[in-house]
Amino acid sequence: MNNHIKVGMLGIGNIGKGTYLALEMNHDKILDTTGFDIEIVRILNRSPEKDRGIDIPKEKYTPDVREILEDPEIDIVVELIGGIEPATEYMAEAIRNGKSVVTANKAAIAANGKYLAELAQEHHVLLRFEAAVAGGIPILTSLTTALLSNRFSEVHGILNGTTNYILTQMSEYGKDYDEVLKDAQRKGFAEADPTADVEGLDAANKLSILISLIFGMGIAPDKIPTQGITSIGLEDINYAKEAGYSIKLLASAKESDGKMSCSVEPTMLRKNHPIASVSNEFNAVFVKGNAVDNLMFYGRGAGPLPTGSAVLGDIIGIARKLGKASAYDIVPQLRYDAKLELNVDAESKYYVRMTVAERPGVLGKITTLFGYYDISVEAIQQKAPYESNGERVATLIFILFEVGRSKLKYALDEALKLDTTKSIDNIIRVEE
Ligand code: HSE
Repeated sequence: MNNHIKVGMLGIGNIGKGTYLALEMNHDKILDTTGFDIEIVRILNRSPEKDRGIDIPKEKYTPDVREILEDPEIDIVVELIGGIEPATEYMAEAIRNGKSVVTANKAAIAANGKYLAELAQEHHVLLRFEAAVAGGIPILTSLTTALLSNRFSEVHGILNGTTNYILTQMSEYGKDYDEVLKDAQRKGFAEADPTADVEGLDAANKLSILISLIFGMGIAPDKIPTQGITSIGLEDINYAKEAGYSIKLLASAKESDGKMSCSVEPTMLRKNHPIASVSNEFNAVFVKGNAVDNLMFYGRGAGPLPTGSAVLGDIIGIARKLGKASAYDIVPQLRYDAKLELNVDAESKYYVRMTVAERPGVLGKITTLFGYYDISVEAIQQKAPYESNGERVATLIFILFEVGRSKLKYALDEALKLDTTKSIDNIIRVEE
C-alpha cells in the first residue's frame, strides 16, 4: 500500500493557511498513528507574489487550477476558496477525474451537496465536508459514526463564530458593533463578505446541512426563516442581561408529528441554559437522540487552525479508504509506546480554606510561610470571627497562584504545625 497521500489545495486564505500549518504541526503524529504520509503538494494561488504571512515553498503554488484537478498524482483535492461557484464546478471536475474531495465550503454544500455526493458515488470517490459545519467540532463525523443508531428529534446550535463573538463582546464589554466586527475579521473568523455572518446566512447554510444529515430532508438555506443580528443593539443586550438572559444567534430545527420546524434567529436564553455560556467565537451543537438523549458539542467554530483540524480529519478519513481499509475500521487505537513521563505534580491554582486563631500576626505568619515555599497568593479573604472552644477564631480563604500539589502539601503541613492554625478545612483545585 502506498502510504504517501498527495493533496492539492484550492485556495490559501485563512482556512488554507490553517490546514497547512496544522499539517506542519502534526504531520509526524499522523504518520505515526495512521501510517499515512500526507503532503500538500500543490496549492492554487492566483497571487503568488502576495505575502500571506506563511512560509510555503513557492514551487507548490500554481495559478492554474487544471494543474491540480488534472494531476494524476493528486489523490485528494481540498477546496477552500469558498463561494458556490466556481468552487462547485472545481469539485465536480476533481470528482470526475477520480479524486476524492474535502471542502469547508458550507455555501456550496448547502446549495449543491446532493449533486456532488451523487457524482462522488458514481465515480467511486469520497466527498467530506466536516469543516463546513461548526469549524473544529466533529459534529458530522459523530452523527454519521458513533451516533448513527439514533433518530434525532431536535438540533440547536450556535453555528456562527463571528456573530457569537460580536454578541459576547457587546454584552461583556459594551463594545461597539462595528469595532467588534472588524476585530472578528482580523482574527480570521468572519467570511470574506461578513454580511453572510451577520445576516444569519452562514448559519442557515450550516443548519441546512445538519437538517439533511439529521432528518434526511433537503431544505434550501433560503427557505429557512432567517434573521441576523444587525438589529440587536446594546440596549437589547442590557435589558436581556438584567432579566437574566443572554441573546444568542440560535439555529434550530425540530421534528414533531411528521413536521419539521426550523429557524436561524436571535434568541434569548436563560443564563443557566448550557448554550448561554458559549461565548466569543465558540460554537455549540446540541442534539437530542432517541437513544443517546441530550448531547452537546462545544468548540471553536471558526478560525484557521480549528477549521484546519477538521479538514485534516477528513483527509485522514479518506486516506484510510484509499488505503483499502474498510470505512468502518476507524477504531480507537490503544497504544502504550509514547515516551512520556507521568507528572503527578502538575501545577495548578488552589483554593485553601483554613480556620485560625483570630490574633494579630496570624495572617502574616501564614503568608510568610507561603513565601518561604515560593507560593504566591492571588486573593485572600477573612470571614467574620467567631467563638470556638472558648477562643476567637476566623476562617481564612486563600486563592493561590500555580503551585505543585506536593509543594502545597508541605506548606500546609507546616501551616498546620503553627499553634494558631486550628484546621485546614479544604483544598480545591481552581481551573480558570
Ligand atoms: N464565518 C464563519 C463563522 C466561519 O464566523 O463561524 C466558519 O464557518
